Amino acid sequence: MSKTFTIKNPLDMHLHLRDNDMLNLVAPLTSKTFSGAIIMPNLVPPVTTKEAVVAYKQRILQACKGDSFEPYMTLFFQNYTKEFLTDVKEDILAIKLYPAGITTNSETGVSSMDVETLRPTLEAMSELGIPLCIHGETNGFVMDREAEFMPIYASIASAFPNLKIIMEHITTKAAVDMLDIYPNLYATITLHHLLITLDDVAGGMLKPHLFCKPIAKRDEDRAALLNVALGAHPKVCFGSDSAPHPKHKKESCGCAAGVFTAPIALQVLTELFEKHNCLDNLQKFISDNAVRIYGINPPQKTITLEKVDFKVPQNYQNETEIVVPMYADEVIKWSLVN
Ligand code: NCD
Ligand code: ZN
Repeated sequence: MSKTFTIKNPLDMHLHLRDNDMLNLVAPLTSKTFSGAIIMPNLVPPVTTKEAVVAYKQRILQACKGDSFEPYMTLFFQNYTKEFLTDVKEDILAIKLYPAGITTNSETGVSSMDVETLRPTLEAMSELGIPLCIHGETNGFVMDREAEFMPIYASIASAFPNLKIIMEHITTKAAVDMLDIYPNLYATITLHHLLITLDDVAGGMLKPHLFCKPIAKRDEDRAALLNVALGAHPKVCFGSDSAPHPKHKKESCGCAAGVFTAPIALQVLTELFEKHNCLDNLQKFISDNAVRIYGINPPQKTITLEKVDFKVPQNYQNETEIVVPMYADEVIKWSLVN
């Protein structure tokens, strides 16, 4: 008998599902195994109205083909009035802020991170209890962008002490250190940033399928991330940042940023936590912490994995889309039991 492991109500607190044929291809790969996910709003055009949120949620549910799965919707940050936010509050779980131009489809993001410029919207969010998720990078040197953003996190966290701020997909020790300084700062951590450093992306032959924003950093940064993830630090939760791009946009001159991990996330997290003798903490990292931080009550789902080799497909495709997962054509050590 192979070893098994059971997870209750897994949650992915940062997920890109895209739209149309890509949505139909990738959504079931998450909804089959996860209870819910925070859905990123960086569509073209971005999700900025109540109508767009409600319609996108409907398209997602349709793509999930009856799986019991909750898409926790977000708005793309811009200046919103309190009246608008009051009206849309029940339809969203958070608002996602992108600095302009910092990553895929963020061209209409925020051009100034100045607290006074952001104040009206952040004040309203704080009063209404709407969390703020931030892609925390400046437009400086690529390896320093996240660390350079720390004073901005500090200024917003101090100016709005009642606003829950989630530092999305953190990649540095600098960001980890912020968790213990500001009570209202939280973080999501991806699978790939727990596994790779810049060496894996560009140290040998260039690996476009590992190229993402923020770029993977140094070994000491990965060690700091592993420390809080494996220890299930109460202020961190899993957010895959699974970001599918068509194969030709990854394997091209001008590679799109994003790692597609949705179909392997649970299995590889299990492998990673087992390897470090921390399996007992995985439930907190992948569900319980998020439930507490966001105050949500996800659909009940029990997922069992077994320690049996799984050969990851070379790609996932439908009639029009083809996308390459992390570990494509490689063998991982845990499988889903259906
Ligand atoms: C994401 C995408 O493709 O939408 N890309 C990425 O590299 N992570 C956007 C993002 O989260 O930055
Ligand atoms: Zn993302």
